[in-house]
Amino acid sequence: MQTSLIMQILEVAEVAAIAAAELNGRGDKVAADAAATEAMRTALNTINFSGRIVIGEGERDQAPMLFIGEEVGRGGETIDIAVDPLEGTNLCAANRPNALTTIAIAPRGALLFAPDTYMWKIAAGSSSQGRIHIDAPPAQNVAAVAETLGKPASEVNVCILLRERHQALIEAVRATGARVRLIDDGDVFGAIATAVPGTGIDLYLGSGGAPEGVLAAAGLKAIGGAFMGRLAFELDPDGETKRRRAEETAGIDLNAPLTMDDLVRSADTAFIACGVTDGEMLAGVSKQGGSVTTSSIIMDSGEKTVRFIRTIRRGSAGSIHF
Ligand code: FBP
Repeated sequence: MQTSLIMQILEVAEVAAIAAAELNGRGDKVAADAAATEAMRTALNTINFSGRIVIGEGERDQAPMLFIGEEVGRGGETIDIAVDPLEGTNLCAANRPNALTTIAIAPRGALLFAPDTYMWKIAAGSSSQGRIHIDAPPAQNVAAVAETLGKPASEVNVCILLRERHQALIEAVRATGARVRLIDDGDVFGAIATAVPGTGIDLYLGSGGAPEGVLAAAGLKAIGGAFMGRLAFELDPDGETKRRRAEETAGIDLNAPLTMDDLVRSADTAFIACGVTDGEMLAGVSKQGGSVTTSSIIMDSGEKTVRFIRTIRRGSAGSIHF
């Protein structure tokens, strides 16, 4: 991906975060999501590219903006886009850590049109590539991560969404001696954090949204991390209907483990996220003396880098990036 396009997408993530952050802690997750979505769409439509939303706010009839298949931009290079304009709507509404705006980009046709259902996921940093597997028992995956990181299982930190359905998983992970970091929401953060030093998360395990799985896979693929998924229609009350639809549209074996290459079918991809609320990976939006500061992360396959960008918007005085 061209650096200039990545920088424009960064701007999109930033303005969406600023819009959502107005609603931090105000208890209205729907309004926060709508604010992020509207700001993101407006900003995407200023870019000179032909963007197509592959992962978005829902089907055309459910979502007024950023619906799946929506074309954005002023025309130019054809790019596929996955967005979760506000990942962690409850986190934002309650002003809890790690609400993010998230975007992944790849060449046209590269991102999987993931059905809006659940996915079992496993993610870890680059040293675990080829060593962990979605179908392996938790003890085996924890042992593999411990070995690749050169520390005992008791020092491995495993992030899991706090859900009733994960009770057995949590117990199995604790039985290995590993620590469990429970999160209320936001598994894109949980998965991505495994590849970002300093977050204290070594392994992500559990089920969450399949669209969020594509976003996380793009980030981890871009920098050589490890991710695998498996669609979990059985966890979804409308799972059977969604499975039948996906049989016609998804173009993949719906029962097979999904590798990063199944989810993102190009080596050329980038993942960008901007903090809405404060968290261990990114600070949230803050305002001071007429300036607005945002913190973002860029994972870019071109250089396999993880970049942290702090931007200070100074109104008519312009922006400072550092
Ligand atoms: P929203 O931002 O749409 O509220 O999603 C938050 C989230 O926690 C995701 O990160 C995760 O993939 C999904 O919800 C889990 O779904 P559920 O809450 O049904 O377990």
